[in-house]
Amino acid sequence: MNITENAIRVLEKRYLAKDENGSCIEDPAGMFRRVAKAVAAADKEYVSEEELKEIEQEFYNMMSNLEFLPNSPTLMNAGRPLGQLSACFVLPIEDSMEGIFESIKNAALIHKSGGGTGFSFSRLRPKGASVNSTGGVASGPVSFMKVFNAATEAVKQGGTRRGANMGILRVDHPDIMEFITCKRDNSEITNFNISVGITEEFMNAVENDEEYNLIDPRTGEVAGTLNAKKVFDVIVDMAWNNGEPGIIFLDRLNKDNVTPELGEIESTNPCGEQPLLPYEACNLGSINLSSMVKDIDNSPEVDYDKLKTVVWKAVHFLDNVIDVNKYPLPEIDEMTRGTRKIGLGVMGWADMLCKLNIPYNSQEAVDLAEKVMSFIQSESRKASIKLAEKKGVFPYYDKSIYKDKDIKLRNATTTTIAPTGTLSIIAGVSSGIEPLFAISYIRNVMDNDELIEVNPIFKKIALEEGFYSDDLMKRIAKKGTIKGFSEIPESVQKIFVTAHDITPDWHVKMQAAFQKYTDNAVSKTVNLANQATREDVYDVFWHAYKTNCKGVTIYRDGSRDMQVLNIGKVK
Ligand code: CDP
Repeated sequence: MNITENAIRVLEKRYLAKDENGSCIEDPAGMFRRVAKAVAAADKEYVSEEELKEIEQEFYNMMSNLEFLPNSPTLMNAGRPLGQLSACFVLPIEDSMEGIFESIKNAALIHKSGGGTGFSFSRLRPKGASVNSTGGVASGPVSFMKVFNAATEAVKQGGTRRGANMGILRVDHPDIMEFITCKRDNSEITNFNISVGITEEFMNAVENDEEYNLIDPRTGEVAGTLNAKKVFDVIVDMAWNNGEPGIIFLDRLNKDNVTPELGEIESTNPCGEQPLLPYEACNLGSINLSSMVKDIDNSPEVDYDKLKTVVWKAVHFLDNVIDVNKYPLPEIDEMTRGTRKIGLGVMGWADMLCKLNIPYNSQEAVDLAEKVMSFIQSESRKASIKLAEKKGVFPYYDKSIYKDKDIKLRNATTTTIAPTGTLSIIAGVSSGIEPLFAISYIRNVMDNDELIEVNPIFKKIALEEGFYSDDLMKRIAKKGTIKGFSEIPESVQKIFVTAHDITPDWHVKMQAAFQKYTDNAVSKTVNLANQATREDVYDVFWHAYKTNCKGVTIYRDGSRDMQVLNIGKVK
């Protein structure tokens, strides 16, 4: 198996099954075997024993070849007692003490199993509103968000990973200003990503520099007005300050809600890529695009035949996961089996572009993004229709928009672009649809030894073209870009661009290109240079809005004390 040392370290820490002494009782191949067997088991009642073995082997092969990986909870928990396989959940929060603490309890159960939770706090009465039973006053959404945050901190996801949360508040909630500024200080509410739920009405008011209404969620009555442009400017200012809040276009999420009869979409999962109904969960999986390039006579091209085969198997796999999954709550079981949403996406996009000699920041790359993703979306739907012929449509089909179109799908949605934070490390490729973060970087290993990690595609070319040296790789790591190194050919400099070589508008164009052919949403961070201005942030938000993105998150380099990835710093 072509798995890196770094990947093995990650797997050993959290993914491989261990005995009571904490020693691993399986290797990566054993993990893929365990997962393949557990997920194939969903076909037991449909196929012969021999066919079942074949399905298991197909699943095993595509994972161990690192062509497709399911989200982390599936790798961690399939075929093991916990058995909770989804990464994404959305829970409702009702405007009552019982409702609020019920939701905290449910979130704790989900976090324990490695899932992340998204919540809308919009139904909670505003700060200062009366509380009938006690005659006191309500403390408002932000103060309750802090209770959710503390609960998450305490749970720490026994053995898997720290719980991640998304907190959303509608822009017309009376407490919106407190929400927008609640993470001004980076050390606050650290277990939440926050996003403002933006409406079309609000965006129109921003455009026309008008007032808009704040609405009391209990009565639906107007509770005040604010100037939309001023509110938008504060969102921009906060995002410029440290990346939060993000914004999410609620009306767009609901325009694409395929089961409106079942309810309204109020929130997404923690990283924003999966809008869900209350109590709905979704399991994700990602195709490694770096492994979908074929080289014919030194002329690399996308291997669409292979991509098609992997899409079909991946849809089969993810659909099976819904059946073998053990859900943490009966309500989640009911909703998730009812809509059977799956989220197939991609990773290794930047690596694929490097292999194809296409710069990330080019129209050619944007056009290819549309072509590749529309292919994946269309094949995944065909695969889902085929599954429906054999196993039936999703149970809430009659409450979906598909019944009128007579498109008999097994899954209410099929595509989502996840961040692939860990999956991309396991596969050893660039994450999600992000550009390369660095060409090389220096990792501190034990005994203060320094290890230079070089992008494998770049390393291969550097060796072939004869400009590789450890010294050069160290200098590149310190600079964070290969721009301006005279020993590196211009043609190579043009292709191997990093997140910081790319202007924000290319980030947004890429996100919009993938979104155009994705049922759910796209996880993407628009990276800005440290010197970027508030106006630059404003432009990114506006560009994302105008190009039909479902939300947008920005990050200005160096704007947080704690930053996961650093360039130019030898750590
Ligand atoms: O690569 P991996 O499957 O571990 O996860 P990802 O693609 O980076 O994140 C996908 C989703 O997993 C996120 O949007 C969250 O819903 C969830 N997640 C989480 O709950 N806790 C984390 N620490 C990371 C991800």
